[in-house]
This record gives sequence, structure tokens and C-alpha cells, in this order.
Amino acid sequence: MKAVALKRYLPISDPESFLDVELPDPKPEGKDLLVRVHAVSVNPVDTKVRSPKDKTEASPRVLGWDAAGVVEATGPDVTRFKKGDAVFYAGSILRPGCDSELHLVDERIVGPKPRSLDFAQAAALPLTALTAYEGLFDRCAIDPGGRHAGRTLLVINGAGGVGSIAIQLAKLAGLRVIATASRPESQQWCRELGADHVINHREDIPRQLEDAGSPEVDYIFNTVDTAGYWTVMGDVIKPFGRIVSIVETSQPLDLGRMMGKSASFSWELMFTRSRFQTPDMDEQHRALKQVAEWLDAGRLRTTLTEKLSPISAANLRAAHGKLESGKMVGKLVLEGWR
Ligand SMILES: NC(=O)c1ccc[n+]([C@@H]2O[C@H](COP(=O)([O-])OP(=O)(O)OC[C@H]3O[C@@H](n4cnc5c(N)ncnc54)[C@H](OP(=O)(O)O)[C@@H]3O)[C@@H](O)[C@H]2O)c1
Repeated sequence: MKAVALKRYLPISDPESFLDVELPDPKPEGKDLLVRVHAVSVNPVDTKVRSPKDKTEASPRVLGWDAAGVVEATGPDVTRFKKGDAVFYAGSILRPGCDSELHLVDERIVGPKPRSLDFAQAAALPLTALTAYEGLFDRCAIDPGGRHAGRTLLVINGAGGVGSIAIQLAKLAGLRVIATASRPESQQWCRELGADHVINHREDIPRQLEDAGSPEVDYIFNTVDTAGYWTVMGDVIKPFGRIVSIVETSQPLDLGRMMGKSASFSWELMFTRSRFQTPDMDEQHRALKQVAEWLDAGRLRTTLTEKLSPISAANLRAAHGKLESGKMVGKLVLEGWR
């Protein structure tokens, strides 16, 4: 099969940072689906894993944790899918990534591809949708059915891949959403996705929240350096509020800061379930199925904003370069094979 892989961890400007390679076709075992990959997306996890270091792989390493494709074969224990089914999924960080023509993934973390979207539109979504879904509905315990409608959520970095779907899921749950973005195009994108207010994370956040009529908020969904936003999050969270962060911290956090308000803080990592093979791992199958239904019902839209074709080393280099610029709005997808 064709694949895009790395052997060394190089700056993305280096033509050898990704290579077009031929690899043996993988064989499905147990609960594995063998998927023929039609489109893949790129996330900051790809650039973090690829970041330059003094290490060489003995055999080519394939990255990529967002795919849409068609089931080609199934392992003996598969019950949820059959050959020919169209699927979308993020996969496991412990296994080879999906930047290959054929890819193995455990059916418990796979959803049916939304019928109303093409493969590229679908590939934009799984990793970010799982992160936003688990962060809002599991970690913050927000009811998607509307029991918390009217409460206010602050999304720090509304226009990035995760923020783009978090805004939509929060609106679907009936929340009032304040998103942060600093450029005209990222601010406009947040409004298009349904944000009620857009404020600028490069300016005074508490003052802007006051201007928006919410000096304190019920929930905060943070998608940028956690330590960098820790003080302001403590200042603007309401008593008994809930904060979720999806980004590692650059310094130890002073959890005591949240005690006076009895505020909760949670981490969300969408790879936890697959990494530890938790008994409820198939919640990710259910979450993706639910997201697909909402997409097909027109209650959510794809976050795809840019597409490159084919899936090749040159285009993956361009995609990583774009992500590393820190200016991504929505999601970038690679589609088709050379
Ligand atoms: N825990 C998990 O499971 C999980 C899952 C997915 C992603 N993540 C992590 O979450 C982070 C965000 O991922 P993503 O895919 O949403 O990123 P992304 O798409 O690359 O985000 C791009 C956006 O970041 C904004 N930005 C840049 N600097 C900022 C700052 N100082 N404050 C606020 N916003 C800023 C920019 O907005 P402006 O141009 O408007 O400033 C830009 O539109 C990454 O670190 C990623 O690794 C974690």
C-alpha cells in the first residue's frame, strides 16, 4: 500500500521530513476494521509527534489521527461494521496513524460516516468532535438535550479545529457561547458557527466579558496553553463553575486558586479511552454515531476550510507548515491517493 511516513524527526521545511513510501498491507485481527482511507485531516498532535528530535526510526513511521474511508475487511470479532461500510474515526495514538491507503482501527472507536458529507468533509471532524463532545458533555457534565440551556460557556480559541466544533456542540445544547479569536477572519468564522459574542484573546478578557454582559461564566473550554490562561480562568469562572482544558501545561498549576469558588477543573484527552482500553471505550463509537446523526440532521456542519489533494509527502509537509503557523481556521484535509 501507499503511505506517507517519516524516518527522522526534521523541521517541516526539510524535504525529507515526510517521505512517500510503499508498505505491506496490514491484516485485521480481533475487533479491527481494515479501512481503505479516502481522506485524512491534520491536527496539532501530528506536529507535536513529528517535532524535531535526535531520533531515527528503524522502519517508516506513519502519523495521522483523523480519517474517513470504507471498510475493506474485518477481524473475526467485529460486530458493528461490515465490508463496504463508510466510516470516520480518529484512531489510537498507540498504533500507526492513518496516512496510508489501508489502515487498522478498533471498531469500538469508529463511527458511521455522516451520509450527507463527502469523505473530505467527514475527515475534518472525528478527533476534534470527540474532544469537544467529551470535554463538554462528559467532563463539564453539560446536557446535550438542553437541561443547561441559557448558561454561558467561554471557548478560548474558538476558530481552531476543536473550538470550531465546540462552539457548535455548545449551541446545540442551548448554551450562550462567547468565543475568543484575534483576527477578522477567525472572528468571522466563530460568528458563522454560532458564537453569540466574539472577544479577542490578545486583549483584556475580563473587561470584554463585562462588555458582553457576562463578567463571570458557567463553563470554560480552554484549547491553548493552560498555565498561560490559568489566572484569567480563575478570575472569570462563576462559583461552582466547571473548567476543562485540552492542552498540556507549561508550568505547575495552582489548583488552590479554584477552591474559593468551589470551581472544578478537568483535563480532557481524547486518546485516554483507547490508550488505556477503558471498559467504556465504545462510548467513542456512540459519540461519533451521535455526531453523524446531528450532521445529517443539519444541526452541525463540517469544519472543513481547506483541502489538498492527493495525500502525499509534499502535501503533508504543506499541511504541517500551515498548522505550525498557528493561524489555522477550521480544519485542513488531504484527499485521494496519487
Ligand atoms: N486533549 C485532546 O484530546 C486534544 C485534542 C485536540 C487538540 N488538542 C490540542 O488543543 C490545541 C488546539 O488544537 P486545535 O486543533 O484547535 O488548534 P488550531 O486549529 O491549530 O488552532 C488555531 C487557532 O489558534 C488560535 N490561537 C493562536 N494563539 C492563540 C492564543 N495565544 N490564544 C488563543 N488562541 C490562539 C488562532 O486564533 P487567532 O488567529 O484568532 O488568534 C488560530 O485560529 C492544540 O494544542 C492541540 O494539540 C488536544
